Parts: sequence; C-alpha cells; structure tokens
Amino acid sequence: MTGLDGVDYRPGDRAYRPAAGADLPTEWLKRQTRYWDTVAPVYDRHYSTEWSAGENAIVAARLSRLLPDHRDPRVLDLGCGTGLGYHLLTELRPHVNYTGVDASAGMLEVFRKKFDTDVHLINQPAEWLAAGRFADLDLVIAIFTSASYIDLPLPDLLERVGGWIKPSGGIYLSFLNRMSIGSLGSTGFGRVIDYSSRGMKSGTVPARRYSTRELIETCRALGLTANVVSLGPFAGLVESRLFMKANAVLSNSSLFGHTIDVVITGRG
Ligand SMILES: C[S@@+](CC[C@H](N)C(=O)[O-])C[C@H]1O[C@@H](n2cnc3c(N)ncnc32)[C@H](O)[C@@H]1O
Repeated sequence: MTGLDGVDYRPGDRAYRPAAGADLPTEWLKRQTRYWDTVAPVYDRHYSTEWSAGENAIVAARLSRLLPDHRDPRVLDLGCGTGLGYHLLTELRPHVNYTGVDASAGMLEVFRKKFDTDVHLINQPAEWLAAGRFADLDLVIAIFTSASYIDLPLPDLLERVGGWIKPSGGIYLSFLNRMSIGSLGSTGFGRVIDYSSRGMKSGTVPARRYSTRELIETCRALGLTANVVSLGPFAGLVESRLFMKANAVLSNSSLFGHTIDVVITGRG
C-alpha cells in the first residue's frame, strides 16, 4: 500500500472502523451512508451519459492545472465514491499517490472492483479526519458536489483541508449552489436541502448549499487564494447536446451554476 495514513477499507467492510474513542455517527452521517450505500450499485450507470463525459472533461482540465509537475503527486479525494476522481487523475498522470475517503462502504466496494486493489481507500466520514491527519499534500479534491455532504461549518472544513496541503498545494471542492437556476424550483434557497442523486426516484440525503460570496469570503479570511467556477447552469435541467457547448463556456463562472466549485491555488 502506498497510502498516506488512516483506516484502510477492505472489501466486505460494512461499518466505520473509527479510531478508539472517536465520535459515533450522527443522524446526518447515518443518512449519508444509508443513502449512498443504496445508490452505489446504480451510480455509475446514471453518470455514463455524453453530458457527464463533458462535465468530466471540464473537471479533468481543472485538475490538470492543479497537479504539480513532479512525479507521484500526493492527492486526497474526499467523498471519492466509485472512483471517478481516481480515474480522471490517473488518466492525467499514471503515477499518483492517491488516497480516497468515503463514508459509504457500498461506494468503496464498487471503486475497489473497478480498479487496482492497491489503491488506498479509507472508509470514514470526512468529518472524522482530524486536523493533523495529513500533511504536505499536493492536492485535495471533493468533486461533483461531494463537499456538500460534509457536515462541518464552512470555516472549519476549509481550515482543516488548508492545513493538509503544502503552501503551494491546490484544493478543488465542489459544493451545491444556493443560487442555481434549479434552486428556483421546489428547493428554494435554503442552506440545507434534501437532495436526490441523478436518476434516483426514492430517498433523499441532506446536503449543505453555499453562495459564491460566503465561499470566497471564507477563503479570503483564512488566507486561501481562491477562484470559483461551476459545472455550468444547465446540469440537471437541459442536458442535451445542443446546450453542451454553452454550458461549458458558462461553467467558467459560478453564477447560477448547479454547483460552485472552489479552486484554491495556495495558502498565504
Ligand atoms: C455525489 S457523490 C460523488 C462521488 C465522486 N466524487 C464522483 O465524482 O463520482 C458523493 C459522495 O460523497 C460521499 N459522502 C457523503 N457524505 C460524506 C461524508 N460526510 N464524508 C465522506 N464522504 C461522504 C458519498 O458516499 C458519495 O460517494
């Protein structure tokens, strides 16, 4: 194993294996694991469309700019799910010192079946990764809204992740946007919503949403150099070939995007 640290996930694991004396799962975390364990067997199928491939390309280009030039960059993937981040990163660089973290053993089981068994995976909620758990990472990512399921106050989350990277390191965190066009529907502008993953007709999971302003201001207050982008305004609304190009162009802004993706390029 080339992992950084932590509690390894092994196929067949069905429960968290926290360090002795660690917290017990909160209601939020119980809902996360229950929901994503149910979604796991069908998750990849729901994201195998041409539209998703376009979104993956947008994110891959951003990750490529954040990866340092040297061999074996050390990357931590929060809410790694079934391994999309690992796939995108290893397409960009064959040698990545990768660690994936996910609260759902079901998602990790799918990940493990798809990729090399040596990939370092940790079955723990991101909330339980303490401030000193990692150091000197080149990149921390939480892609495709994964940062929205982490139940920590925003400054705590950003401060903790900021402390894990090198001064020159990068961070890419994808959050649900409170001000998206889709929000104008039934979910309103609330901070915490009951969210449903693509294609899932039953069940919801709690998700935190943020505004561009609070994300930028919190980064600034913590001395993190940040920029905000998105996955474009049309995701989940009109995912047709006709809108793909326009969506890709508009994804350079967070305005009305389904997500706000915060790109941090260093800490002061
Ligand atoms: C929308 S999926 C994204 C998965 C992956 N990043 C991708 O792009 O395909 C969100 C993932 O976050 C995980 N998750 C939810 N709450 C979490 C938490 N508190 N800590 C760590 N992972 C969590 C879920 O199990 C799920 O795999």
